[in-house]
Amino acid sequence: MSQTLQVQFCGILLENPCLLSSASPTQSYEGIANALKLGWAGVVTKTCAPDHLITADVTNRFATLRDSAGNITGFENIEGLTQKPVAYWEITIRDLKREFPDKCIIASIMADEDRESWQDLARRMEKAGADALELNLSCPHFRLENNMGATIGKDETMAAAITACVKAAVRIPVVVKLTPNASNIQDIAQAVVAAGADAIAAINTVQILMGVDIDTFEPLPAVNGHTSFGGYSGVAIKPIGLRCVAQIALATDVPVSGIGGIAHWQDIVEYFAVGASCVQICTAVMLNGYQIITPLLAGLEEYMNRKGLRNLGEIIGATLPKIEARERLSMDWRRRSTVIAPEKCVRCAKCYVSCHESGKGAIRFVDRRVTVDPTLCDGCSLCTHVCPQGVLALH
Ligand SMILES: Cc1cc2nc3c(=O)[nH]c(=O)nc-3n(C[C@H](O)[C@H](O)[C@H](O)COP(=O)(O)O)c2cc1C
Ligand code: SF4
Ligand code: SF4
Repeated sequence: MSQTLQVQFCGILLENPCLLSSASPTQSYEGIANALKLGWAGVVTKTCAPDHLITADVTNRFATLRDSAGNITGFENIEGLTQKPVAYWEITIRDLKREFPDKCIIASIMADEDRESWQDLARRMEKAGADALELNLSCPHFRLENNMGATIGKDETMAAAITACVKAAVRIPVVVKLTPNASNIQDIAQAVVAAGADAIAAINTVQILMGVDIDTFEPLPAVNGHTSFGGYSGVAIKPIGLRCVAQIALATDVPVSGIGGIAHWQDIVEYFAVGASCVQICTAVMLNGYQIITPLLAGLEEYMNRKGLRNLGEIIGATLPKIEARERLSMDWRRRSTVIAPEKCVRCAKCYVSCHESGKGAIRFVDRRVTVDPTLCDGCSLCTHVCPQGVLALH
């Protein structure tokens, strides 16, 4: 059986499903070239905008949320777009395509309501040799008052109008990058597809406020004591990305590039299962470097061997038929919490407290051993999640 990591994304052959998303890791020719040499199938360049719309970047522009082991689970940025002029990206894209003709170079662009600015940028990137365009209709913090980024991406009419005007200007595929902050991402997806979008990328970051310094009451990340609502990324947003990709795949028939919280090869499989045809990655690279591509590809190959897959295309959307309205889920399928590894119990009583205060009061300690009363347990599963030792499971 010949197995391949190659995938097709809106008519472009990718040597593997992994692209660097438009962000800091794709802000320069040198960085992109290094990443491509290490094995990334392609990149979406850092979003460029008409030169007069570029603003300086702020410090500090990142904030993080960590789990109790110290791992960064959530990452906020209030970074702007590229600091480089459009001419830089024309040269960079031209040079990258010359040096790496088989890699996929997608140019990310953003402008304001001025349609001609969008068309001008689109034509310049196409002329430079970009394989496709990605329209950034989704940044949650850059020049929102100027009707840029997510302001467009949350409005069906504006999003469709920008998509249509760019489509009219170029022949290369147009990918539209959507925001999870839209109240109904399916409506936006259908509107841009009706306007001609060849593919959708989702998601951009989730708008958040990371926190507050409780001594100074300064919001975080503080820029001279002030902040903006910023964009959340990293592993914490993967469930939001999966939800959005699934909803888009269910509502449209164009390819979807899945983004959000991908750090391991398993995440890529999950995105494919909910409808993605390729993936894009940012935060995991910002935290661990371009070289994460090696374990990502090795893990995917091993998985495909184990599953007997010739091509990742075989699993695109495999999970979609299993997503239903809650009311259509089986009310007869019953499981109960069961003690599966009593020897691992450290008698911390977390399960007891959770079950008695938020469950059905089914957990007891009999002769200092944890037990579940099956006549009281209704299988909510709370105890299986709070147990730190893996003692309990639903059966
Ligand atoms: C520091 C930073 C800068 C970003 N800049 C851009 C950008 O210029 N254009 C864009 O479309 N998305 C931008 N993004 C969003 C990412 O491309 C990506 O959609 C998001 O971070 C979710 O993916 P992740 O969880 O793998 O980081 C940026 C994200 C971060 C963290
Ligand atoms: S599954 Fe729910 S009800 Fe059953 S023992 Fe656990 S917490 Fe209690
Ligand atoms: S939470 Fe787990 S380890 Fe703690 S008492 Fe319950 S079963 Fe034992």
